[in-house]
Amino acid sequence: MLTYIVFYSRYGNTALLADAVAEGVESVDSMDVEMAYVRDPFTPQEVIDADTVWKESKEKLEAKYPAFDPEKMKEADALIMGSPTRFGNMAAPLKNVWDMTAGIWMEGGLIDKVGAVFTCTASLHGGQETTLLSMYLPMIHQGMIMAGVPYSEQKLLTTTGGGTPYGASAVVGEESNMPPDETETAIARTLGERVARLTASLKKA
Ligand SMILES: Cc1cc2nc3c(=O)[nH]c(=O)nc-3n(C[C@H](O)[C@H](O)[C@H](O)COP(=O)(O)O)c2cc1C
Repeated sequence: MLTYIVFYSRYGNTALLADAVAEGVESVDSMDVEMAYVRDPFTPQEVIDADTVWKESKEKLEAKYPAFDPEKMKEADALIMGSPTRFGNMAAPLKNVWDMTAGIWMEGGLIDKVGAVFTCTASLHGGQETTLLSMYLPMIHQGMIMAGVPYSEQKLLTTTGGGTPYGASAVVGEESNMPPDETETAIARTLGERVARLTASLKKA
C-alpha cells in the first residue's frame, strides 16, 4: 500500500513536517511512502534569487524530493498534502496541483481514499486551522475520507505551538527559522500513523 505525501515549502519547515508525517506512515506494516515537493510554477527566478534563504532552500528541496506526479496521486492508496500558510489559506503552488486534477475528478480517481493535511505558520494565531480546512475542500470534492488527529494524542492538549485536530501544524516564527518542535513533530507522526492504519483497515474491508 502506498501513501503519497505532496507538499510545498519555501523555507523548509513544511518539508520537515512532511518527513515526520512520513515516519508515522512508515511505522505501519506494509505501508510505503513516496513524497513530492511541488515546484513553484509562478514566482519569477529573480524574486527567488533576491532572497538567499529561499533560493538555497529551494535548491535543497528540489535535490532531495521528486516533483509532483499526477499518476502517483492516482496510484496511491492515501494522500497527505502539506502547505505553508498564505493569508490563512494554502499556497498557490499547492492549489495549482488541485487545479490540474479535473481529469482525476472526472474519473473518480481519489474516491474513498484516506486524506490528511498539514501546515506551518509564522505566528500562533496566524490561521493554521483555516489553512488546514481550506486544504480539506478539494479533497472532499474528490470524494476522499479526511482523517484528522484524535484527542487520544494527548499532546494536542499540552502543545504550546502547533498541532490541531484538523491536521498537523507548526509555528515556525516571524523569520520562519524555528523548525517544528518535538511536540509538533510527534503530532505529525501520529497523523501519518493514523492515515496508514485507516488505509490498511479500509483495504481489508
Ligand atoms: C504571502 C505570505 C503570506 C503569509 N501568510 C501568513 C499567515 O496568514 N499567517 C501566518 O502565521 N504566517 C503567514 N506567512 C508566513 C508563512 O506561513 C511561513 O513563512 C511558512 O509557514 C514557513 O513554512 P516553510 O518553511 O515551509 O516555507 C505568510 C508568508 C507569506 C510569504
